[in-house]
Amino acid sequence: MTKIQFPQDFTWGAATASYQIEGAYQEDGRGLSIWDTFSRIPGKVINGDNGDTACDSYHRYPEDIALMKELGIKAYRFSMAWPRIYPEGTGAVNPQGLEFYHSFVDTLLANGIEPVCTLYHWDLPQVLQDQGGWSNRSTIDAFAGYCETVFREFHGKIKQWYTINEPWCASFLSNYYGEHAPGNKDLQTGLDVAHHLMVAHGRAVRKFRELGFEGLIGYAPNVTWMEPYTTRQEDVDACRRQIGWFLEWFMDPVFKGQYPSFLVEWFKAAGAELHIAEGDMELISEPIDILGINYYNGSVARHNSEGGLMQIETLDVGYEHTDIGWPIYPQGFYNVLSRIHELYGDLPIYITENGACYNDEPIEGVVADQKRISYIHKHLIQLERCISSGIPVKGYYSWSLMDNFEWAYGYTMRFGLIHVDYNTLARTKKDSFYWYQNTIENNGVEI
Ligand code: BGC
Repeated sequence: MTKIQFPQDFTWGAATASYQIEGAYQEDGRGLSIWDTFSRIPGKVINGDNGDTACDSYHRYPEDIALMKELGIKAYRFSMAWPRIYPEGTGAVNPQGLEFYHSFVDTLLANGIEPVCTLYHWDLPQVLQDQGGWSNRSTIDAFAGYCETVFREFHGKIKQWYTINEPWCASFLSNYYGEHAPGNKDLQTGLDVAHHLMVAHGRAVRKFRELGFEGLIGYAPNVTWMEPYTTRQEDVDACRRQIGWFLEWFMDPVFKGQYPSFLVEWFKAAGAELHIAEGDMELISEPIDILGINYYNGSVARHNSEGGLMQIETLDVGYEHTDIGWPIYPQGFYNVLSRIHELYGDLPIYITENGACYNDEPIEGVVADQKRISYIHKHLIQLERCISSGIPVKGYYSWSLMDNFEWAYGYTMRFGLIHVDYNTLARTKKDSFYWYQNTIENNGVEI
């Protein structure tokens, strides 16, 4: 057996998000978020599940942090719930919300775990949605205000920040496909929201710089990889479009100060126009320190004029699928990171999410999730290839620390290293937990 070794200072971590784990949805002055509303609309979330209780991490975080410590992670990527801090989205700050995150962050620090904070992982205050949400530019101001409060409050404790998690999902999946909150189904709205989210990102970065606090800031787009089924130009172009919708669309503006014209034209042909106000591109392209990348799946695809907005059809060419139905394509992880490096250069990259859905249940206290281990193993090998090729990948956050509310899938899909019983809220370490613990201890894996 050969061992592949990660750099000495590599950051091993795990990730979660507020709405998916916290619960306590009405406690200590928290306002409602769009997910509280959306999950209550019949048919939007499987089984009518919601995040009212979720994993109850709001109360059980000492137990969760003890588990993180046992796991051996050096950093924990969590998100703050904006409606806990500003129940009305803007205006009066809720001291109890700040207090909660202080206790939480202090407990992480006391256990030697670095807190890494995502500022927006989709739980927009509902009051802001009532005024148009992200399609209304005033939400950008509200976000900047919330971020400033949080920066001032937590500087010195939190030194790594991600502004927006997966802007593609928060815009197109949520406002064009309507699968996530708030559930709009309109391309123009999707496009407006996508742009406003990126301006909001830029506003937060600029504010962070103005305040001059120590720390690193970036954002966390999700990417995918598509291998053209044939070398025919139309297949190659379809894959380029689909990859680019996630990648160039959300990264060119940050790194190059402009949107990729091939997609601007494509959206135009589909009837949606980009609305850019003066100063927007300067804001979006405020230099960042770190780039978070979320990667889960990739596949083979070809052109199909009936294949939706991007005119693409993915093909099942025999890759294995996780329990959520996503094809496993570890080579795509290497390919997409190589593409990012090629296009945007040497900015430090953190894999802010990668992981697999397998719904194994405990049998006599054991969760034998061999398939999750195999998935992570394969992706870590590709990651090490990246590092050995000179791509500056500095860390890896496993999604997720524990099973949690999987958005439109409710509690039916499990991504955790720790199993959560949603009746008793008992936590059970899965076999993957021990495997990952061992990986961290050895700072590498065997191949
Ligand atoms: C999101 C997570 C989600 C995971 C699995 C990402 O899209 O950031 O919140 O649970 O993937 O679907």
